[in-house]
Amino acid sequence: MRNETVNIIKLNLIPLLRGARGVSGGVFLLLDENTRKHCLPVLLKTSPELKKAKIIQIASGEKNKTIESCNHIWAELTKSNADRNSLLINLGGGVICDIGGFCASVYKRGIKHINIPTTLLSMVDAAWGGKTGIDFQDIKNLIGTFKKPDVVFVEPKFLKTLPDRQILSGMAEVAKHALIADKKYWKLLKEENFTLKRSGEKIINKSIEIKTNITRKDPLEKSQRKILNFGHTIGHAIESYSNKYDKDPILHGEAIAAGMICEALLSSIVAGLPQKDLNEIIYWISAVFPPVKLNEEAIPEIMKFMTNDKKNKEGKINFTLLKRIGKAEIDYECDVKLIEKALKTY
Ligand SMILES: NC(=O)c1ccc[n+]([C@@H]2O[C@H](COP(=O)([O-])OP(=O)(O)OC[C@H]3O[C@@H](n4cnc5c(N)ncnc54)[C@H](O)[C@@H]3O)[C@@H](O)[C@H]2O)c1
Ligand SMILES: [Zn+2]
Repeated sequence: MRNETVNIIKLNLIPLLRGARGVSGGVFLLLDENTRKHCLPVLLKTSPELKKAKIIQIASGEKNKTIESCNHIWAELTKSNADRNSLLINLGGGVICDIGGFCASVYKRGIKHINIPTTLLSMVDAAWGGKTGIDFQDIKNLIGTFKKPDVVFVEPKFLKTLPDRQILSGMAEVAKHALIADKKYWKLLKEENFTLKRSGEKIINKSIEIKTNITRKDPLEKSQRKILNFGHTIGHAIESYSNKYDKDPILHGEAIAAGMICEALLSSIVAGLPQKDLNEIIYWISAVFPPVKLNEEAIPEIMKFMTNDKKNKEGKINFTLLKRIGKAEIDYECDVKLIEKALKTY
């Protein structure tokens, strides 16, 4: 098996199953109704050998990143006598990669899995690094495992059918990569107006490089991998709240964009982020991403979601904050009052 690979491996360059030698127990293809419609035909055209794969479909969206979907996946695997030598191929966005990776990691104590991300967010972030999981009792990613995919195939062609709102959601993780690790990359994103129009592949490659460089050194998030959590402590709490109460919940990237603004505010207070950098971050993130409506009455419950976050120790709320644009530092513990203030300012 290949290890996770840093560069874009296009589907049409490599026969899909070359990366999955040793598969003898059947190939399964996990997808949702949208990736079945838009992405499966593209995949089968470049990898016709997959026509024989057994399809497992779950309903799309974060609200289905649940144990019920897992039950369905495991039941389908069992029905088809999947064994330890089977392979699960995840064709979809972050939800499919997270849930498929999780199901693969525990089915018969672990079977091989491949990620074929079809959203920008999953191409640059969710498909890589081996975090798998599902939401539980309204809390994001509460149940999960670490299991690296055996291969990740990135085919930017899939983005042609992805709605603009979803592209923008992925752009939030791209902005995060630049803010935590690379000022020159942030400059490029500004020049490109945070679009993929002229430098799409360069941007996808750069983000993959940043994400995998970090996760390779600290696969189990003992320390430095936490820098990828910038924007996510507050962002995940906002997202969980929206998933619980909104009829049309905000997207992951939209929540992370709001989280990055709040956490940039915290950074300027406790981590010495210069005012100029703070202004620039607020200016660009507010210009590019849709604002999230935050009522003041929501704040206590958002705070409760934050204390449930896995990243916290002994009741203190742990943050990754920015020293400056392009440089993040882990393990700041912030006072609840200060966090409430950041949320109110937002
Ligand atoms: N494991 C990680 O390291 C990691 C990192 C970041 C985010 N995540 C997780 O990823 C999830 C968000 O992922 P996402 O933004 O990809 O959302 P998603 O998987 O829900 O996909 C977004 C929507 O686009 C549809 N879709 C996917 N590909 C398409 C295509 N090519 N054309 C048309 N429609 C398409 C999907 O069916 C879905 O409706 C969250 O659950 C988040 O927690 C995980
Ligand atoms: Zn994220």
